[in-house]
Amino acid sequence: MTRILVLAAACLALGVPPAHAQLESLNEPPVLPGKDVPWVPTPDAAVDRMLAMAQVGPRDLVYDLGSGDGRIAIMAAKRFGARAVGVEYDPSMIEVSRTAARREGVADRVRFVQGDLFEFDFRAATVVTLYLLTSINVELRPRILALRPGTRVASHMFRMGDWQPDESARVGSSDVYLWIVPARVAGTWAMTRTPAGAAELVLAQQFQRLSGSLRVAGETLPLAQASLRGDEIRFAVTGAGGARQAFVGRVAGDRMAGEGEAQPWSAVRVRTR
Ligand SMILES: C[S@@+](CC[C@H](N)C(=O)[O-])C[C@H]1O[C@@H](n2cnc3c(N)ncnc32)[C@H](O)[C@@H]1O
Repeated sequence: MTRILVLAAACLALGVPPAHAQLESLNEPPVLPGKDVPWVPTPDAAVDRMLAMAQVGPRDLVYDLGSGDGRIAIMAAKRFGARAVGVEYDPSMIEVSRTAARREGVADRVRFVQGDLFEFDFRAATVVTLYLLTSINVELRPRILALRPGTRVASHMFRMGDWQPDESARVGSSDVYLWIVPARVAGTWAMTRTPAGAAELVLAQQFQRLSGSLRVAGETLPLAQASLRGDEIRFAVTGAGGARQAFVGRVAGDRMAGEGEAQPWSAVRVRTR
């Protein structure tokens, strides 16, 4: 490790591009100073698991924020068939990444952009990958939560503060996490076509976790097992007579609809609180 840091420091002091080829030939993971975090590559096995957890496929557009040597974007294209964009502050890493993309035969599906991830527009992403820091993830969180519901976010080592991951795994010495951007459903919804007729659904939301009640036929029933996975909502209620009814549906803005156990249902948001 000391040798690597000395080599990196020497490169910086001399003002020459960091010698990535030399660093990669050493038997230890390379470390180079970066703008907000240093370059430390995610091991390939962890990259593979992050992309598999996120169920990346040919219809996806993956953005790696702080893309280092480009390995996540390149694997997303090569092994998972996706298109990918890497944003990286260090211009020499951009060159390394573009060369690697050509070598791996995916230069037509992978793009590397030199820039600051904090200023970068990643709203087109269907998948975002991160190996940054918890503090940076939390800083990016409002922009991530504003992405299209169902967008997957995979992070190596670092979490998102009090937004709990939807999945996590350990790969060798790496922890990897997955979040699915939840639809925004907080508020009061007028429900129609429930088995008991019209009802009022009141939802409070903390990320993918929901709580609330269903007011129906003069009763207020607490919601059980209420959750979101992207735009898919689930909840259940138990009526005074002990009958349990489960609801599963899809949210699209201020509307949701789905299949109940007995008949289809739908709802329209009437208030956002
Ligand atoms: C820990 S490395 C992760 C590299 C790659 N994503 C991976 O997992 O192998 C973080 C990378 O972010 C870059 N970086 C740091 N601050 C940045 C910023 N503000 N904008 C863009 N890139 C940044 C660093 O140069 C470094 O390459």
